Amino acid sequence: MRIIRTRDYKQMSRDAANIISAQVILKPNSVLGLATGSSPIGAYEQLIRWYQKGDLNFSRVRTVNLDEYVGLGFDNHESYKRFMYDNLFSQINIDPANINIPNGCTSDPEEECRRYDGVLRTLGGIDLQLLGLGVNGHIGFNEPADIFAKGTHVVHLSESTIEANKRFFAKAEDVPRSAVTMGIFDIIQADRVLMVASGAGKAQAVKDAFFGPITPRVPASILQFHKDFTLVADEEALSLV
Ligand code: GLP
Repeated sequence: MRIIRTRDYKQMSRDAANIISAQVILKPNSVLGLATGSSPIGAYEQLIRWYQKGDLNFSRVRTVNLDEYVGLGFDNHESYKRFMYDNLFSQINIDPANINIPNGCTSDPEEECRRYDGVLRTLGGIDLQLLGLGVNGHIGFNEPADIFAKGTHVVHLSESTIEANKRFFAKAEDVPRSAVTMGIFDIIQADRVLMVASGAGKAQAVKDAFFGPITPRVPASILQFHKDFTLVADEEALSLV
């Protein structure tokens, strides 16, 4: 485990974007595992700027997103599909055929999980997985549980996650109660994992995940085992360690 300590969110975003861009330069057809939430937005903005300057080319990059709310589709501004287009995909030269996001608007979420696991298999593995960190230590939407979930599955969101994510919705009741997420096994099979964490609100989760025992009660703690895991975090997020 490698920890890169940054002054603030801006520097965290720049460092993370540097790592992602190095991946794309070294392997132009990389499979990038991508994340939503406020943490990666700054890194996406930086990647867009470098693309606009002509320094980056995403034409052969393939992407897989971690998760999606059940019931939300592209026409809903809070869907993760919409988030990804608004914050990254619509502003770079990625081929839409190379974009993969779980479909939240399906009548059969279990079948969608099987389809998505097939997509992951077909891609042949993730080169670099970007992650945020939930306040309860979740990654993707893998909530604290008794076991580490393996593949893509349907989750019922915890009260703390609904509370944390309600800021994106008009009211807490609008936050979907379930989601489709890649599993822990899918995530840790990535060749490299990069997490961004910022702000005092993440300090306890960072401490529990990376300076405490490895346990499914803190899903991100499994990353302590990963052979190439980098945490880029600002001073506030590292304030308890
Ligand atoms: C959501 C996403 C996670 C993300 C987390 C933290 O629950 N499913 O992938 O890491 O939020 O979000 P933020 O970065 O906004 O704190």
